[in-house]
Amino acid sequence: MGEELFRTTCAACHTTGTDRLVGPGLQGVEDRRDHEWLVSFITEPDRMIAEGDTIATRLLAEYIVPMPNLGTTRAQAESILDYIASANEAPTGETSGTPVAQAPATEEQVLLGQALFQGHTRLANGGPTCNSCHEVTHDAVIGGGILARELTTVFSRLGGPGVRAIIGSPPFPVMQKAYEDRPLTEEEVAGLVAFLERADAEQELHQPRDYGIKLFGFGVVGAALLLGLYSLAWSGRKRGSVNQEIFDRQISSI
Ligand code: HEC
Ligand code: HEC
Repeated sequence: MGEELFRTTCAACHTTGTDRLVGPGLQGVEDRRDHEWLVSFITEPDRMIAEGDTIATRLLAEYIVPMPNLGTTRAQAESILDYIASANEAPTGETSGTPVAQAPATEEQVLLGQALFQGHTRLANGGPTCNSCHEVTHDAVIGGGILARELTTVFSRLGGPGVRAIIGSPPFPVMQKAYEDRPLTEEEVAGLVAFLERADAEQELHQPRDYGIKLFGFGVVGAALLLGLYSLAWSGRKRGSVNQEIFDRQISSI
């Protein structure tokens, strides 16, 4: 049970070896941490971080992404820890989730990923498009959802193996549910990773949708120009009050 759980909920971010993915490699974690601390952290990492636990705070500073609360129970945490320990006793030479060296992405993969991300190409198994929940800053992609994080810089934040692992087997409950019976194919995962890598690398070249201060500046200048134009166009307008003229006319006609 521990192995199955580890594969489906932890392997996106951890190896049982020493390789770092999104989080630290977990080999020998029982030697460096107290057992009770491990069980608490695995079951409620969010609470440990919120409470300012020293180790959790230090780890978060180093790994930047907070480990999500995955709804793991104490019993599940125990069996996962047993599995991690046993995986390290049996030196099969193969550590689960070890990142494999990837060939550089091709242009076709980037384009496939872009089309899949925004739903121009349907996902083979019918899962929802990524931009129903996520947004990415890229000129070729129309605005996306804001239910989940903006993904423009996810590639530099989590690294290739981390992004690939998350898309391949999402550890986040909401996203996991969305693809539970409709998994992405290998080809789709590769394309999406390639697209996110490209969007990250080229973010400077693409207009953010939040124009912010620049748009405000243009607005102020534009308004001033328009006001100037109006006053020129109407320079021959009456300056006094219309009522006053009527009043004067009435008075003089008495
Ligand atoms: C979305 C990525 C992600 C998932 C999924 C995830 N973790 Fe983590 N984990 C992290 C990160 C990142 C850290 C480093 C601490 C932090 O930044 O919050 C961490 C830290 C840990 C630590 C502390 C390691 C140490 O050196 O003290 C343990 C133990 C751990 N995770 C176990 C698990 C287990 C077991 C699972 C599956 C139930 C799991 N994690 C799922 C990202 C993840
Ligand atoms: C049903 C909504 C939903 C859909 C659809 C969805 N995701 Fe997610 N995704 C989430 C949630 C929720 C998270 C958890 C982190 C957060 O709150 O952003 C997440 C996290 C991620 C992360 C990690 C972000 C980070 O900064 O840690 C990546 C990468 C990601 N999704 C990629 C994708 C891709 C690629 C697709 C399309 C195949 C996709 N997602 C479709 C909801 C979704």
